[in-house]
Amino acid sequence: MILVTGASGLLGVALVTQAVAAGREVAGLCHQHVLRIPGVAMSGVDLRDLDAARSTVERLRPQSIIHCAAATNVDWCEKFPAEAEVLNVAAAHALAETAAGIDAKFLHVSTDSVFDGARGGYREEDAAVPVNVYARSKLRSEQEVLRACPEAIVARVTIHGWNAQPKFSLSEWVLSGLRAGKDVPGFTDVYFSPILANDLAEILLAMLDHSLSGVYHVVGAERTSKYEFARSLASAFGLDPGMVKPALLRDAKMPAPRPLDISLDTTKIAQAMGRKMPNVAAGLRKFHALQEQGYPECIKAYLAGAGS
Ligand SMILES: NC(=O)c1ccc[n+]([C@@H]2O[C@H](COP(=O)([O-])OP(=O)(O)OC[C@H]3O[C@@H](n4cnc5c(N)ncnc54)[C@H](OP(=O)(O)O)[C@@H]3O)[C@@H](O)[C@H]2O)c1
Repeated sequence: MILVTGASGLLGVALVTQAVAAGREVAGLCHQHVLRIPGVAMSGVDLRDLDAARSTVERLRPQSIIHCAAATNVDWCEKFPAEAEVLNVAAAHALAETAAGIDAKFLHVSTDSVFDGARGGYREEDAAVPVNVYARSKLRSEQEVLRACPEAIVARVTIHGWNAQPKFSLSEWVLSGLRAGKDVPGFTDVYFSPILANDLAEILLAMLDHSLSGVYHVVGAERTSKYEFARSLASAFGLDPGMVKPALLRDAKMPAPRPLDISLDTTKIAQAMGRKMPNVAAGLRKFHALQEQGYPECIKAYLAGAGS
């Protein structure tokens, strides 16, 4: 059985639905949004309660754990560093230690933001120099996970896609603005290597079946600016790319500092899996196809049914 923490989040929902579709036995942990997903044994646990985190894993005794749960709001983490530390670092350590104790494979989801963004194209062995509280907590989580469970996989990711929860990933936010007829700012000075949550889910599940351990950059194969990404997204959905207006991060006055170029090199994961990571166009084609298949409404219904 695979246990997915953060199963109500952007990546977690994609993971559990993909795992069920692949015929795997799946359990999910959520916190405030307990989704009802056919085929998934879902429970609500506050992972900041470290005893509850440990005992849940010991009770479920999964063969594999994919740990997605985290405090992911960068500005919230900047304001509440101690709270961010408990979930992002202490809970990750407790889960990894428990996984090691029951011989479960542990895949820890981390972030491209561990780098300072000064040059981009980062490889796994490059020095990580986080520039905000969130990123520092994620880097520390990587270190704690590998200390507690040396055979663990750490996957540094960046994601866009469809949310079950009433909140926007980058691509949903761009679409929402464009569909409302508004101009959408796109940073021309911020670069990343986006991957669709559903593509990432499929790759992470496949990674469990390979004998991998250590740090991997599991992102899209292509470096793009947020501006170009938003323009490509508009085109993929038949919207006007001209409504995406160039903007600069330094003018945006965000509370927490952000790195500028956190594009990652995917050579290591491509070699390990014997396949290239998807590029931007392929990810956007699939993002659009999922909409046509009714995927966004389907996963939102899992949330709507949560309280019934
Ligand atoms: N989104 C991105 O672009 C991005 C980029 C880089 C790295 N990552 C990493 O990828 C992973 C998944 O990100 P995501 O975007 O899917 O996250 P998300 O949508 O923000 O979801 C966060 C998940 O964590 C759960 N959670 C929050 N507090 C919890 C608590 N106290 N106890 C138990 N669960 C708790 C949430 O549960 P409830 O909603 O039920 O409360 C939710 O399922 C994270 O580790 C994140 O750091 C994400």
